[in-house]
Amino acid sequence: MDNRPIGFFDSGLGGLTSVMELHEILPDEKVIYFGDTARTPYGSKSPDTIREFAGQIVDYLVSKDVKLIIIACNTVTAMALDTLREKYPDVPIYGVIGPVVRKVVKDGVKKVGIIATKATISSDVYSRKIKELDPSIETYSLACPAFVPLVEEGFTDTEIMKMTVAYYLDDFVKDNDFDNLILGCTHYPLVAKHINELYPQLNLYNSSAEVVRELKDYLEENDMLAEPNEFQDRYYASDLSDNFIAMTDLLFKDRDSKIKLVKFED
Ligand code: DGL
Repeated sequence: MDNRPIGFFDSGLGGLTSVMELHEILPDEKVIYFGDTARTPYGSKSPDTIREFAGQIVDYLVSKDVKLIIIACNTVTAMALDTLREKYPDVPIYGVIGPVVRKVVKDGVKKVGIIATKATISSDVYSRKIKELDPSIETYSLACPAFVPLVEEGFTDTEIMKMTVAYYLDDFVKDNDFDNLILGCTHYPLVAKHINELYPQLNLYNSSAEVVRELKDYLEENDMLAEPNEFQDRYYASDLSDNFIAMTDLLFKDRDSKIKLVKFED
């Protein structure tokens, strides 16, 4: 048993989709979340910058005595997972890419589309990891860089968002013969309903959800599950944007939580 909170972080509010899954599957687990809203999006930044920002956040979460860290961001997972694990050998650190890749391979998928940020797609990490496990799987990749800023600006439930989904995906879906699609960015589950509406034939794989399913097994196997406890979930952000506050309130209104601004020194 381990009642310490789990640390989650993302460039902004996308990682909240992983926390939603956690509350669903493991409601006694408590959360310290960090959204780097002042510096989002990460997906168009250089690998060195992404690694530097991620290092600051992990330092912060470790200082809060979390029992484990989930990098609830594909871009950081692609750029910094290995570096962060080397720096913190004593803190279990989970990325969001391995779990969804293992699920796709386990399900026997033969052709899969992958949508993600520019940085994640350029790293080719999804295709590489899928082919390491099963070289016969065909992969099709596409960067959708406008999705994250639109979600961060609160456009999720609008026609603009739907048109942007169609702008990126119409040709990609039409020209390639896949019926499974990996949402390779933790912001994308927030636009999944537009994707479902426009392309109902696609079966979606959600990186935010798969990491939590593997986490459950890990906590059980290592006797680290929390029991009911009084700790209040905490949501930290480097800029308390209206949308971050609104989303946190909306998604987690049934749970006790605190929201706070945290600034890193230069
Ligand atoms: N949620 C992040 C991801 O999963 C978005 C990165 C960004 O800020 O562009 O990749």
